[in-house]
This record gives sequence, C-alpha cells and structure tokens, in this order.
Amino acid sequence: MCSTPPMKNSRVTFLTALFAVIPALASAAEAGTQPWMNPALDADKRAELVVAQLTRDEKQTLVFAFFATDAPWKKFSAAPEARAGSAGYVPGIPRLGIPPQWETDAGIGVATQGGAREKRERTALPSGLATAASWDPAVAHEGGKMIGAEARASGFNVMLGGGVNLVRELRNGRNFEYAGEDPLLAGVIVGAQISGIESNHIISTVKHYALNDQETDRNSLNVVIDRAQARMSDLLAFQIAIEQSNPGSVMCSYNKVWGEHSCESAFLLTEVLRRDWGWKGYVMSDWGATHSTAKAAMAGLDQQSGYPFDDQPYFGELLLKAVGSGELSEARLTEMAGRILRTMFAKGLFDHPVEIGPIDFKAHAEVARAGAEQGAVLLKNKGAILPLNAKRIAVIGGYADKGVLAGGGSSLVYPVGGNAVPGIKPTSWPGPVLYYPSSPLRALQGLAPGSRVEFAGGEDRAAAAKLAAASDVAVVFVTQWSGESLDNPLTLPDGQDALIAAVAGANPHTVVVLETGGPVFMPWLDQVAGVLQAWYPGTSGGEAIAKLLAGAVNPSGRLPITFPADESQFTRTSLVESDSKGNKTGDVHYNEGATVGYKWSDAKKLKPLFPFGFGLSYTNFKYGNLQARIEGQDLVVKFEVRNAGTREGRDVPQIYVSPASGGWEAPKRLAGWRKIELEPGASSTVELRVDPRLLAVFSASNNWRVAAGTYKVMLGSSAADLALDTSVAVAERTMPAGYHPEH
Ligand code: BGC
Repeated sequence: MCSTPPMKNSRVTFLTALFAVIPALASAAEAGTQPWMNPALDADKRAELVVAQLTRDEKQTLVFAFFATDAPWKKFSAAPEARAGSAGYVPGIPRLGIPPQWETDAGIGVATQGGAREKRERTALPSGLATAASWDPAVAHEGGKMIGAEARASGFNVMLGGGVNLVRELRNGRNFEYAGEDPLLAGVIVGAQISGIESNHIISTVKHYALNDQETDRNSLNVVIDRAQARMSDLLAFQIAIEQSNPGSVMCSYNKVWGEHSCESAFLLTEVLRRDWGWKGYVMSDWGATHSTAKAAMAGLDQQSGYPFDDQPYFGELLLKAVGSGELSEARLTEMAGRILRTMFAKGLFDHPVEIGPIDFKAHAEVARAGAEQGAVLLKNKGAILPLNAKRIAVIGGYADKGVLAGGGSSLVYPVGGNAVPGIKPTSWPGPVLYYPSSPLRALQGLAPGSRVEFAGGEDRAAAAKLAAASDVAVVFVTQWSGESLDNPLTLPDGQDALIAAVAGANPHTVVVLETGGPVFMPWLDQVAGVLQAWYPGTSGGEAIAKLLAGAVNPSGRLPITFPADESQFTRTSLVESDSKGNKTGDVHYNEGATVGYKWSDAKKLKPLFPFGFGLSYTNFKYGNLQARIEGQDLVVKFEVRNAGTREGRDVPQIYVSPASGGWEAPKRLAGWRKIELEPGASSTVELRVDPRLLAVFSASNNWRVAAGTYKVMLGSSAADLALDTSVAVAERTMPAGYHPEH
C-alpha cells in the first residue's frame, strides 16, 4: 500500500488506514524488544537489522514526506497525527517501533507555517546573520541548543535549519536566515548551531544545497559557476558546516545548478556530499523541489518533502511503480530508507522519543537576548555619543514603542504574546510582517530612569524633528522587512532615509538603529553621530538594543558581510539575465566565482561603506607580537590582544592570509579569528591553526593544492584594517577534496 496523501476528499483513506494500524499497534509493544532497539549496537547495525524487516511499501513510506499543514489550494488536509501547522510529517511504522518524523522549520526557532490556523508561540533567536555577526560559535551553539529544546518539547524530531547559503547576492530576501559571505565564518557558525540543535537528540537539516543564493525565480533559476570556484565558496561553507556538526540531513534546493535541478544533481548529492565529503545522512528535498522519481533517486535524493508541494507524488505511488517496473532498483530504495533509519538511530530518535512538554520561555528569552547583544554591530560612534548619557532622549520611528521586526517566510517564529504591530502588509505569505513584543522604548525607559525618554512615531517627520530638537539625543529606529520568495533593494523603504535626515537636521546628536535583514545604503551617514546595526534581533531584541545603547552591554558584533557604498559595488546589476532581445534566459552566471563579499571589494579595489569584519566597541583593543610558524604541515599563528580602554569588552581579532605570488580568486582570505573577552588593561595570547584549505586552490584534479611560496599573514580588526603582518614560507601540499582539519 502506498502512503496516499491525506487529501481532504480522501478521509475514507484515513479511516481505512486507521483500522489497518490497530493490529500493528498490538505488535508495537513487541517492537521494543527487537534487536534494533538495543542502544548498545551502533547505528549502522541497528539500521541494517530493521531494514531487513521492511516491506517495499514500508520503505516507500519512509522516503515520502507530507506537508503538515492544510493546503486548501491543493485540496489537501494534513494528517491528524502530524503536528498541526508545521512543515512536514512522515508516518512511523509502529509494528517495527519506527517513530514518525515530525519536521519543523527552522534556524531561528520553532516556526509555524503561514497557513496554519493556530500559531505555535515560541522563542525566536536573532536572525542567522545576527548570530554570524557574533563571530562566536559558542553563541551559535547555545542558540541551537535552545531552539532544538523547543522543537523537542513541541514534539518535533527534525528541525529544518541552519541555512548556510553564502551571501553572494546582497539583495537576497533570505540573507537574514544565513550566516554571511565568508565560507569559513558561515560554516563554523552554522556548524555550531547544528551541533546545538542535535544535542537534543533530534535531526538538524542543513540547507539549501546548493547555490540557492537569490529568491528571484528561485524555482527555475539555473546557476552557472566554475566548479572549482564553487568548491572554494558556497560548497566550502556547506563542507565546513557538515564536517563540524555531521547533520542528520541535507536539504537540496529549489534552483538548478549547471542545468540540472539541485535535487537531481548526482554531482552535488552523490559525488560531492558522499564520495568526497564522506557524509552519511539523508538528503531531503526542499518543499516542491522534487521533479522526478528515478532520476532524482538515482542522483542521490533520499526523501521527497512536503507533498503536495510537488505536482506529483514522485516518491509516493510513482516510486512504487518505478521499482515495480525496474526503472528504479529495489536496492536503491532500500538504501534510501536505510539512510533515513540509520540517521534516526544515530541522532537518538529511537532512544529518546520526543515528548510534548513545558518550555521555559523566560530562560530561553535570555538565550535569545544574549545572542542579540553579541550580534549587534556598532558601526559609528562619533564623539562617543554612545553609550547614551543624556537627560532627554527622543526615540523615533520603527515601532520602537511596540517591538522589534522579524523576517518573513517559512522561518517565521510566532512570539509569545503575539504580533506587536498587526496589520502591516503583506499579512499573508511570506508575511505577516511581524514585530516581536519587545519594545526598545520601554526597555530604554527602564534602563535610564533619570532621563526623560519620549517617543514619536516618525510618520510625521516634522513632529519627529521637533521632538529631536527639544532633546539632547535622538535615536531613530528604521526597519526593512524582507522575506522568503522576495529579493530587496538596499534602500530603506517608506521615506525612512528622509526621516533620518530630518531628525539629524534638527539634532546632530542622532543615533540610527537599523533593524534590517542585511545591509542598506546610508545616504545620511555623515549627518548622524551613531549607527547600531541590530539586524532582526529576535524575541528579546528590544531589551538587547536598549542595553547596548545604554552601555549596560558593550557592543561586540562584527559584520559578517560587506556593506556596499552603492550599487556600483554589486557583483551584478540585474537579478535576472536577458538575451540580446531582452528575453529572460533563466540563467544566472556567478562569474565572480569565489570572489564574494570582501574578496570582491579587494579584487576590484572598492571602498565599501563598512568592511567585512568591522565593528566598534566602547573600549579599544591593541594587537601585538604577531608570529606565524609552520607546525607539522600546518600554519600556526600567534598574537596578543590587549584591552587598552577603560571598560571590559569583547573583541574579534581576525587573521587574513595572502600568497605573495597571487593566483587566488582575491588578494586575501579570512583564515581564522577568536572572540575574546578582556577586562580593561588585560591582555591575552591567542593561537590559531589555519585550515590548510584556506591556503589552497581547488584544482581540476579534484583536490586542494597549496602552492609552495611565501604567504603574508595579516592581523586586524576588519578586512580593511590590518594593523600587523608577517610572512611565512609554506611548502607545497595536496589534500583530497574531502580533507578537513580533524583528518
Ligand atoms: C523553504 C525551506 C523550508 C520549507 C518548509 C521552503 O519554502 O525554502 O527553507 O524548510 O519551505 O517550510
């Protein structure tokens, strides 16, 4: 029997299925004593034992996932045993003790699908980009652990995050879900997040594999990029995240790559993931990204997701047909089911069944707050306008009296307490536009009881300017909403640039707080004294922002992406390519290859608005004694950091490397960093071992090659401020495609 999708008009199917399940339930208790339930055996053995018991229909059941929310436009009702309003569901097999797979989005917390009748109210971390801006894997891990715990307590054993697509296209409306433009930083941060999620004995799904770097035409876009360059950029980010965390699952993406759907690319799904990287989990498709049965399965897709998002039940009855006719081998189906089961054993889904239980929202809000505090980036602080020290403070705009903005789409977490600003369009997918009820105004009032802190909405520019003029300092909150399925210009909407200009014109002691998915242009930058990039700061964002502004917390975020000065600094002008007749070609050529972000700025000698790695503090740090040596075959870098200011703070000293003879995609690459906390006057010695892939070029012979020669090692506070450098001679070295430092 094929697992027929639970269509609205097929309730009968469900009843029939229910009766069929009763005898199975009787034997479910016996399943507990079966040999594969023995936790002393390894996951491979346990999977082997249970797979041997599976009928063909049962194997097929495991590889075909349903949407878990009603989809009236498809006449689809979610299965009653699914977790209502969530992303996905795969029935279990009670006779063998195999639990269902309950899937929830995503990287910032337990999301609810837009179409769900009831929304799960959960804790939202700051955006992925904000977490990356912490440059602290411990922050990412804590966040992952927290959202994984909420997933578990909500009855989910598969969490569809984190996202490690490189910020290659600055206008990508999903950049807020990702971890920036550098493969090392993104891979390390997302890897840490995944380990945190999976520490809850659930599966984490790293996504969207691969090169799904823009939302425009995402379902049809064909990405063309040099393969070696892809290995050194987008694929390297996945490789590092995967080797650091060994996620249970990888989600293949909507787009095409090199002319093939990602979910049909044997190169991506089998050659790279398994042959080269040796990863053993299972590949699931994005929702609606499966386009065939035998072709996809043979390429390496193990599970179709979210039916009926796809137009056909490719891994449903069509798969049974394909196996029946011999178009797809039974052996491959067995392998697919086996990979899923092995992962379920390895990640603890059998031994630690999920249970719906209470959530400590108070404790989790603190985790979210700590992340927002460490991820906010102080971009400008002229005349030490911050921390605030004023008798009369004007807070203007951005609904700062009510809450903080969230990004839209499948990752949207609905907050405890509901939307602080309901009704802003779009109110449906990829909306609603949602503000978490964490008001920066109220938090600031609480932190500055001796000051008069007043609010003006900002719709009336003249009134805002008047309040600013009457105040010692004005803090203008500006927002740009972005969401899945959309790309955005980098211009603040709704006349907010003019609002800032009007306020700054009335009072030069103006500070701008940005709640945006990514970078925006700042035509008013010279007119204002301070800028704090707060991203989408999550459940406790208002408190975090207020603490940073008031100086209760010292800012320590650093940009995980370059902020361009204007569009001339983009790698391409248009998101869609056209032929000579002006017709869309459906392709995007990432001709910049691995020359992404600061690498692009360096290669083209551009001066960005704010460079990658940049961020200010209320104290200042000095670097010294930079040394580089070769130990074994590895480059080891050592240096000292001193807090030369008068208050405690966290710094992110960064190491970049560059070959004296050139030959890379860009003049330099980030090779390592350390987030370090220091008391005033204190210093510390940092030692970093450089991943040799960052000294290498991926070659046509499918390996990493370090060219012999002299390499410059630079230490600084951003990609554009490298205070110290030294040189080191490096010997030639070749490493396999799947090399990673623990090898
Ligand atoms: C998104 C995925 C998400 C899935 C399930 C898709 O639209 O691209 O990131 O996990 O939906 O909600």
